[in-house]
Amino acid sequence: MDMITQAPRGTLDVLPEDSHKWQYIESTALSIAQDFGFREIRTPVFEHTNLFQRSVGETTDVVQKEMYTFEDKGGRSITLRPEGTAGAARAALEHGLLNSALPVKVSYVTSCYRYEKSQKGRYREFHQFGVECFGAAAPQADAETISLALLILKSLGLENVKLHINSIGCPTCRARYHEALRAYFEAHKDELCGTCLGRLERNPMRILDCKSPVCHELAAKAPVMIDYLCDNCAAHFEAVKGCLDAAEMPYELDTHIVRGLDYYTRTVFELVAPNGLVVAGGGRYDGLLQELGGVAQPGLGFAMGLERLLMVMEENGCHFPPAPKCELYFVSMGTKAVQQCFAMATKLREGGVAVECDIVGRSLKAQMKYADKLGARYTVVVGDNELETGVAQLKDMTTGESEEIRLDDSLYTTLYRKSLDRELAGMTNLFGSVAEIG
Ligand code: HAM
Repeated sequence: MDMITQAPRGTLDVLPEDSHKWQYIESTALSIAQDFGFREIRTPVFEHTNLFQRSVGETTDVVQKEMYTFEDKGGRSITLRPEGTAGAARAALEHGLLNSALPVKVSYVTSCYRYEKSQKGRYREFHQFGVECFGAAAPQADAETISLALLILKSLGLENVKLHINSIGCPTCRARYHEALRAYFEAHKDELCGTCLGRLERNPMRILDCKSPVCHELAAKAPVMIDYLCDNCAAHFEAVKGCLDAAEMPYELDTHIVRGLDYYTRTVFELVAPNGLVVAGGGRYDGLLQELGGVAQPGLGFAMGLERLLMVMEENGCHFPPAPKCELYFVSMGTKAVQQCFAMATKLREGGVAVECDIVGRSLKAQMKYADKLGARYTVVVGDNELETGVAQLKDMTTGESEEIRLDDSLYTTLYRKSLDRELAGMTNLFGSVAEIG
């Protein structure tokens, strides 16, 4: 029989040895976003296909080439979400979130699906942390959103990620720009790829982020939107930059950012890592909610790719909290001891202590070896003798030292006091080194 031991191309397994890094990144991002007023939203992994056609846009690469779309058994066209904004906007409208005090701020951690050529930092299943803010039109909302993305990266230890910003205007100023773009690409019509030939009439801006090399080269010399902004859009962009300047947030104007999704208006931005990977992207989408049949309210947000973020953090030697370890391992000898250890472990676990005991039926030596492999901080050997006296040896596995402990409720207090002592020692070290620097 064939062994099925290979995951589909473009997917990634997160193994137990790495999962704490994911938890760390996700909880850091969610909690910082919470400080900015964002509350988590969870939406389905699949939606009606037309949600993405309407929001992401018919002429985008995502919709034209990359969606995982299928017919369900009821004959409906269903698509695995290629991104998080559309679902969040749909849910906000469906549940009337915009009928309450505005702005409404939501955050999410989601898996996304795009059938892309897999390469470094590009997967077919990937994960995003993202936020969406509905009902805020003022330029300081753009700056706040950008500053949230930057603060998350900074808190994770990434300060060398560059902020690139641009404005891609509104439908009013874009009409004039589309004309200029059409005229430019019309002159190079023979060189465009088949997909872009179709885009020329319907949505020439989409040619600008085509991945085919020839279109890409042509796009580099095409007119840029920033030169066509209407007065309102130009003023909005100036005000966004004004806020960034005031907060001393450095940015680079990158007139070639167009973003790969159709819903954007005005401010767009990307955060670029030292290795060139875009770890986060976002911007304003003032027409999206209305386009979905909802209220005419503005919106904006961003999403960061978690696989890319983790990769960049590792490349930059960012600090991760240590993997959680076993605090106490009960080494048991004999049936009675097994039962007693199980009972003690149960109690300690109720108190939140990370305890393990033998569930394989190993010898004393093998149990000690396993406890060592686990990296258990302490071990206690419990046999007939210990059961009789109610006293055992608590062995510190890092120092090798042992001390007498009682096998009763005081064990919890003993362990708790030890963890407090360690925490205190850690703080003393920290303040000690701060004092040295100072
Ligand atoms: P996006 O630029 O398509 O925007 O994706 C956001 C981020 O997701 C990218 O910067 C990248 O880090 C990551 N990403 C995208 N595709 C892949 C892939 N195939 N493999 C790995 N990582 C990937 C959006 O999705 C918008 N919904 C962001 C947004 C929210 N705009 C406003 N609100």
